[in-house]
Amino acid sequence: MQSGKDMRRLVDTALGRRPADLVIQNGLLMDVYTGRMLPGRSVAMTGEWIAYVGPDAGHTVGPETRVIDAGERVICPGFIDAHTHLINYFNIPEFLSYAIPSGVTTLVTELECYGFILGAEGVKIFLDQTDPCPIKIYALVPPMISLSPAVKPLMITPEQLAPLFEDPRVIGLGESFWQGAILTSDDRVLNLIRETQGHGRSIQGHAAGAFDAKLAAYAAIGVESCHEAISTQDVLNRLEMGLYAMIREGDIRRDLEIILPLKGKIDFRRLILVTDGTNPGLLIQKGYMQDVVQKAVDLGIDPMDAVRMVSLNPAEHLGLDTLTGGIAPGRHGDLLILPDPRTMRPQLVISKGRVVAQEGEMTVRIPPAEEPDRLLNTVRAAPISPVDLSVSKSLADGEGMVRTLDIQPGGLVAREGRALPRVVSGRLAADPESDLLKIFFMERISGRGEAFVGFVRGWGQKRGAVATTLCWDAGGIIAIGENDEDLAASVNRLIEIQGGTAVFVDGALKMDIPLGAGGYVSELKMPELAERLNRFQEMMTSLGSTLDFAHLTLSVLTTPAIPFIRMTEKGYHRFREDDVVALK
Ligand SMILES: [Fe+2]
Repeated sequence: MQSGKDMRRLVDTALGRRPADLVIQNGLLMDVYTGRMLPGRSVAMTGEWIAYVGPDAGHTVGPETRVIDAGERVICPGFIDAHTHLINYFNIPEFLSYAIPSGVTTLVTELECYGFILGAEGVKIFLDQTDPCPIKIYALVPPMISLSPAVKPLMITPEQLAPLFEDPRVIGLGESFWQGAILTSDDRVLNLIRETQGHGRSIQGHAAGAFDAKLAAYAAIGVESCHEAISTQDVLNRLEMGLYAMIREGDIRRDLEIILPLKGKIDFRRLILVTDGTNPGLLIQKGYMQDVVQKAVDLGIDPMDAVRMVSLNPAEHLGLDTLTGGIAPGRHGDLLILPDPRTMRPQLVISKGRVVAQEGEMTVRIPPAEEPDRLLNTVRAAPISPVDLSVSKSLADGEGMVRTLDIQPGGLVAREGRALPRVVSGRLAADPESDLLKIFFMERISGRGEAFVGFVRGWGQKRGAVATTLCWDAGGIIAIGENDEDLAASVNRLIEIQGGTAVFVDGALKMDIPLGAGGYVSELKMPELAERLNRFQEMMTSLGSTLDFAHLTLSVLTTPAIPFIRMTEKGYHRFREDDVVALK
């Protein structure tokens, strides 16, 4: 992806001995290094790199040089999203065709989804897939903290890090949930951190809910950032511990407002704006990073501070500031032409010295991502039958009660509860009238299809069943249903299409969303994918659910990142007790 710098060529271009490939003239340069707007500036690029920045690039212009007159418009550094999750829903070229016109020239992504199904091989597949992309995509090695024991054989070991770090695009260790790093006697994550530090790479953090002693303990192991601040005080707590604070404005949360009370009170140079992932609907409606930076400016943050939070600040944090993050000689030719300093919608996007988008449209082709067979066959389990889902009444307690996973309003947090299921022919059954449904998780890693059947409340569906392979932090299928036949049919549909989301009602397939690459990524075009996800939500609502983001709720039922009870193939995992329990 990144060709080596030809220093002689850069020197010759800067000195006017060899013509530049691309020159931007007469712009208002947003100088993130000094925090000033510099009028009448020119930028000369040769190959991927900037050779000259100054008042007049005339000496670098030859007969072959493409010259673009900025006409006093703003020359702004290309935007960096320093924390995102690319392997969710959409495929990479499809995503980039929306993200690049929005001003992104550098992405830093977590790779947990490929990790949980393919281990270190998943990282390599991702690097191959993104190699031909027209912008820089950096990867983080997933620390793979999972509640699902089936993941163990795939877990990336410290010994596997050295070969991964041979690729300069692998710039660090991804988010390790603080509980899984420090509140465990297992040193696995600490060993990964030590090895990563030995390679001089970055350590990304995830300190949701941690403060004071716990936050200190987490910072002490060498974590350098956290993107889980949800209040102004959280932001300060992280900055005071020496961490970079990443503020989320994307799919999961939109928290930019929390930094407003800090305006004029603290230096914003340790703040970074990130998406932490997006979704097809949001991408189509709002675009990508331009929306994030524009919101900051519209909320009254100085445009220089807003742009620094997506350029120099993340570049410095990640050790990339000699390569990108500002417009200066020796950096990648990553820059945007903006109509004025307060309008973040780029009229021109230049990445690695090449015009890649203009007025919201791509100007270069993004080749399709390679999808090796290993990536397309990741639902390793035999079909199930309704009998596999039946639960003997002997599994309930003396009063006939069972433990439940109760989804809380908002759809993310879940708490432990107890409920009385119906008994039909000696078997425990769902009771949709009292919002009690069956919930099923089956791992899809070992080939043995280990699974657990529990009960859930707060989902609301009155008829049918739903299943998805898009499970956070686990390789498996999560399903919820009102009857065993539809549940089994939904699960089996996903085995048949090797990944996706499916809804069955009264034995009929009502809809599906193919996610054939790893069970996480769809081959569908973005508008079609957005339409299917919309339809899924409408269908859930029509079947009785009151959840606003039902697909997200389903996906997070396996993650260790959100408390207090989750699904594994061995039973419910309880956070406070740190144990795995069955129905009684
Ligand atoms: Fe994240």
